[in-house]
Amino acid sequence: MFDLPDSEILSTALEHNFWTWSAQAKVTPIPVTHAKGVYFWDVNGKRYLDFNSMTMCVNIGHGDERVINAIIEQVKTLPYAAPEMATKPRAILGKLLSEITPGNLNHFMFTLGGADANENAIKLARGYTGKHKILARYRSYHGASAGAMALTGDPRRIPWEPNLMPGVVHFLDPYRYRSTFHRTNPEISEVDFTLDYLNHLEEIIQYEGPESIAAILLESVTGTNGIIIPPEGYMQGVRELCDKYQILLIADEVMSGFGRTGKWFAIDNWNVVPDLMTMAKGLTSAYAPLGAVAMKPEIAAAYNDIVYQGGLTYTAHPISLAAAIANIKVMQDDHIVEHTHEMGPILHRMLTDLGEQHLSIGDVRSIGLFGIIELVRDRKTKEPMTPWNGSSPEMTAMRKELLENGLFIYSHWHTLLIIPPLIITEEQLAEGIAIIDKALTITDKSVTVK
Ligand SMILES: Cc1ncc(COP(=O)(O)O)c(C=O)c1O
Repeated sequence: MFDLPDSEILSTALEHNFWTWSAQAKVTPIPVTHAKGVYFWDVNGKRYLDFNSMTMCVNIGHGDERVINAIIEQVKTLPYAAPEMATKPRAILGKLLSEITPGNLNHFMFTLGGADANENAIKLARGYTGKHKILARYRSYHGASAGAMALTGDPRRIPWEPNLMPGVVHFLDPYRYRSTFHRTNPEISEVDFTLDYLNHLEEIIQYEGPESIAAILLESVTGTNGIIIPPEGYMQGVRELCDKYQILLIADEVMSGFGRTGKWFAIDNWNVVPDLMTMAKGLTSAYAPLGAVAMKPEIAAAYNDIVYQGGLTYTAHPISLAAAIANIKVMQDDHIVEHTHEMGPILHRMLTDLGEQHLSIGDVRSIGLFGIIELVRDRKTKEPMTPWNGSSPEMTAMRKELLENGLFIYSHWHTLLIIPPLIITEEQLAEGIAIIDKALTITDKSVTVK
């Protein structure tokens, strides 16, 4: 069978495909056919507004001919080269990335996606420092391969334990809305709040032994675990702790990079230069699969005379590299980072307005086009609309309502994430927010204290 009518996509896929992150009997995939700009369509011609950039990755929007044509050109010229070979897109992309990444990050290892970018960053850090422990945060997701799962702090790692990479220690995030340390004094100043979380980290460094810690790995702005935006001084403080104890700082920019926060990389918001930085998703806007590890020159140089043991058949795949180059050019030509920076306050105002109108909204946070709504049953106790790591009838009903009304959005536990393509206009943003506004009547009904 080499072709299929649209009407049979869903039934045939359900018969023969195995679905990730899913109980197989419960999947309800959207049979998608095509996509353009901030929208995509299913086999029935229904249009969806994409408020999640598919998997938080189509940063430049769908169907951009400039990237598609660059891919076609590359396929015609050289669709594949062995990983040990030098190719034109490989040379160009390395140079381009060195121009847009922070500080003196100037060597780039190309990977297939985000998880293996993190795996390689860990290997590089361990090899460079000769130390083995990695500190990462509880509210984090770093990928689904065994090493990246071990780095992940959230419950997705638990079903696979204990058979994951050893040597990872988790610590707490500076999550102001649900701060562990500040239940009784939530009004604490930002300076002291930041200090408490840096002290917590330093204490863990001391307990674990700085001489055994290779790296601290963190999402510059936490993604699926809650769009946790670090307070002023936190990133700088983590950098200082790393310098004090000769620990490498690894920034995971897989979701937060490539314009998402209104800067090329989220860490640029705090002018901090990590030693290693991982990226994927927005690197190609998902027109082709690609990840990368950016590193400082001294880390690359540590492997001048010793062999770096690692690599995959598809490392530095020319088609993906060509997509990344074209994607960066589109971002530059269309001033997409600047546009996102300008849209940031607009999204923030829309979310704040929603928060004022709906009692089930406990908190909203956003930076650039990276936003979240936290739904609660009671604003005072902050009881979330779902139990920890669970679901609830209200959230399930709300998700259904959003989708029925043509809004594709990611909902994690008791939160809704707003992560649209960065080309979105104010009108399109308002279109999605209006659908959310309507659906919030479902969760509003479950607020216990009015
Ligand atoms: C912050 C972060 N790191 C790593 C990953 C893993 O990336 P991939 O799915 O490309 O392996 C993700 C994916 O969602 C992510 O959000």
